[in-house]
Amino acid sequence: MSLPESTDAWWKSAVVYQVYPRSFADSDGDGVGDLRGVESKLDYLAELGVDVLWLSPVYPSPQDDNGYDISDYRGIEPVFGTLDDFDRLLAGVHGRGMKLVMDLVVNHTSDEHPWFVESRSSKDNPKRDWYWWRPPREGVPAGAPGAEPTNWTSFFTGPTWELDEATGEYYLHLFSRKQPDLNWENPQVRAAVHEMMRWWLDRGVDGFRMDVINMISKDTALPDGPGGDGSAHYLHGPRLHEFLREMHREVFADRAGATMTVGEMPGVTVEEARLLTDPARAEVDMVFQFEHVQLDHGPSKWDRTGLDLRDLKATLGRWQAGLADVGWNSLYWNNHDQPRVVSRFGDDGAHRVESAKMLATVLHLHRGTPFIYQGEELGMTNYPFTSAAQFRDIESVNHHALAGDAALPGLRAMSRDNARTPMQWDASPNAGFTTGTPWLPVNPNHTEVNAAAALAETDSVFHHYRALIALRHSEPTVVHGNFTMLLPDDPNVYAFSRSHRDTELLVLANFTSKEQRPDLGFPWWDAHLVLGSHSNRGATLRPWEARVYRQ
Ligand code: NOJ
Repeated sequence: MSLPESTDAWWKSAVVYQVYPRSFADSDGDGVGDLRGVESKLDYLAELGVDVLWLSPVYPSPQDDNGYDISDYRGIEPVFGTLDDFDRLLAGVHGRGMKLVMDLVVNHTSDEHPWFVESRSSKDNPKRDWYWWRPPREGVPAGAPGAEPTNWTSFFTGPTWELDEATGEYYLHLFSRKQPDLNWENPQVRAAVHEMMRWWLDRGVDGFRMDVINMISKDTALPDGPGGDGSAHYLHGPRLHEFLREMHREVFADRAGATMTVGEMPGVTVEEARLLTDPARAEVDMVFQFEHVQLDHGPSKWDRTGLDLRDLKATLGRWQAGLADVGWNSLYWNNHDQPRVVSRFGDDGAHRVESAKMLATVLHLHRGTPFIYQGEELGMTNYPFTSAAQFRDIESVNHHALAGDAALPGLRAMSRDNARTPMQWDASPNAGFTTGTPWLPVNPNHTEVNAAAALAETDSVFHHYRALIALRHSEPTVVHGNFTMLLPDDPNVYAFSRSHRDTELLVLANFTSKEQRPDLGFPWWDAHLVLGSHSNRGATLRPWEARVYRQ
């Protein structure tokens, strides 16, 4: 039985906007976005109508992975500002009736975090056991090929183990060698994380997006994996649920539903997500799953294939059905790790505006909490990268170092830097992002694709997002309605309905550059049109058109 609407969690009717601070707005001309820059754009976000800001990491960090390598959990990286700037930003967010969610990166720290500095200092340091230290593989001298304690490959290429010459042991890093994994088996580690989380909540933040949080429990036997894939031994490890429930008890339980949590979980299944997001189990509010953003991957993410719309429907439909009676979905196309959706699943050429609106409509009408990534509301596109020297992202740079220029087409389509080029505020030379030299080049299409133009144009992608957000806030069916997938085998049109009490919403979306005449067996075009991407009527959907009907 579902809760009555009035007592339902606030984040079910919320829309979240992700800010990647480095690329959002630069207030001091150093070419890197900062907190004062974010503060200066709060009215823009309020106008869009979003409820929550998720701030990617702004903590002190050597920036090996753009802030996902944290060296102090209780401060602000000077390039982004100060704690005072942060407090002012938070007050500005709350003053506009919005909430702010921080990024929590606690699967690993930076190797420059004092915890790790201590841990590596000697084998008998009290913090030695805060990280995963292991001797070389038996019978193989330290440093020799194959001496690593397991054969696992890191997410950023190369082994997941780094030899520390001083003590002759290896430490585990699932990501870069500057991101050593914390040992959550140690209760002191967990207590230190909980204390830090309470510190931020006491400061006023409203929750956390939890980075790769399904990697915190590992198989302590650390077995090898097939072909170097160790994921079976560090994804959803034996103590994951226990650790999350403990965290909930220690950090969130006495805050009476005021907070929101979303756990980033590569490889999570619907079955796992039901357990993880069941409110009765008190673990996390929702998870980021990855299945729908892997449908166009070949053997690796760099081998991009086309998207078969039927696969997208099958995947998202399975998640809708799986979390229909328990738990809750997050909904996203984009974030700082994904290429731009309009370039990926839409048409970023002739139909950029239409396909951006269509993709937004489909996502926002699903059941769950939608996440918008900065610039998505403008229909921002991938960057026209032409050479390896243009990439800054550690994952892209390492991939190129291994695969050479043959990797360029894959990088151009899939590199995380596609998401990270500066936010396009206006048509001026640096798109209004900075008065200095931007840390990553601005997309040349900013002369056309920018916020100033979008605000001025009533038909823009921005105003379509605004209408979708407003619809969610005014129409309970968008939040609570049951989801039914229609036409699952149609390769061109995405169609579904949402029903709640005596209201039914029907959503139709053309995923092609050709006209489509979907056959639902009844004259759907006679219903009341609530929202559309075109000013169109009748039985024919124009290229990339989306419509929402009420019946
Ligand atoms: C997931 C984050 O979204 C990504 O940007 C980062 O590189 C890894 N986790 C490691 O923290």
